[in-house]
Amino acid sequence: MSKPKVLVTRPLFPEARAILDERFDVEYWTQADRISRGELLRRVADKDALVCLLTEKADDELLAAAPKLRIVATVSVGYDNIDVPACTRRKVVATHTPGVLDETTADFAWTLLMAVARRLVEGDAWMRSGAWPGWDLDQLLGGDVWGKTLGIIGFGRIGRGVARRAQGFQMRILYHDQARVPLDAERELHAEFADRDRLLRESDFVTLHVPLLPETRHLISTEAFEKMKRTAYLINTSRGPVVDEAALAEALDRKKIAGAALDVYEHEPKVHPALVARKDVILAPHIASATVETRTKMAVMAATNAAALFEGRRPPNALNADALGL
Ligand code: DGY
Repeated sequence: MSKPKVLVTRPLFPEARAILDERFDVEYWTQADRISRGELLRRVADKDALVCLLTEKADDELLAAAPKLRIVATVSVGYDNIDVPACTRRKVVATHTPGVLDETTADFAWTLLMAVARRLVEGDAWMRSGAWPGWDLDQLLGGDVWGKTLGIIGFGRIGRGVARRAQGFQMRILYHDQARVPLDAERELHAEFADRDRLLRESDFVTLHVPLLPETRHLISTEAFEKMKRTAYLINTSRGPVVDEAALAEALDRKKIAGAALDVYEHEPKVHPALVARKDVILAPHIASATVETRTKMAVMAATNAAALFEGRRPPNALNADALGL
């Protein structure tokens, strides 16, 4: 019997390839340049499954171009690249990779927080330039982290991971989400629920851990920067469009906040030019989950989701399983 056909838009890792190669007739996109939209639409046309990255849009146009498609498995926890309602309408399962990247992403949010507060990237550039004249009392003064107030917007698995790490720094933790978490979780994490305005007003560090939804787009904009402390820092490892980049550049210009550290951007791979020129901003290339261990787990998870469907099982991380009656 012929195997189902899958298009995989990156070679992934050997552990994930082993799962796919055994069960599918696999076409990997192996070129260094990412797959163009045209190639994607052309190559997915005769496929039963698509394993893709967050940079590839699985929208209605793609689904229409692939009439045999039964599953779209993105190698990411965020799934704003997939039109899930369109998938459901066309009886295509959509899956993502929750759970395996939480701690790694929380580590990186913390990396950014420490680096921006302590001006590490500026210091590194200074050392490499050969211009450092030696120790002096007032060089690269940053802000303390320990004992400060950390404001976490989005208190899911990653947000809570960030809160756990803050304990060691004796921080006061405020969090905001659509709903409060159970009291025992608040107590365990020493976290206090605050409405968004209070969190913005009182936090020394504001870190974002929300998904990209219509209601979180530009969640942090001019009006939010007006409320933040002039000494506060903004950390974003969630999705770029959650922050209005032009408003951020203006807020930094007007010294409304002290600095920002970003891993994600409104129009990736572009960065707002006004941010590129600034020393009070750290720019990371969307690498919060980029460890060997975690990216391997994500790829294996996506491959496992695709394999499950063709073995007659419910893909473990299906986003629309109920809607499809799986
Ligand atoms: C995701 O998984 O959504 C991240 O942005 C990449 O790890």
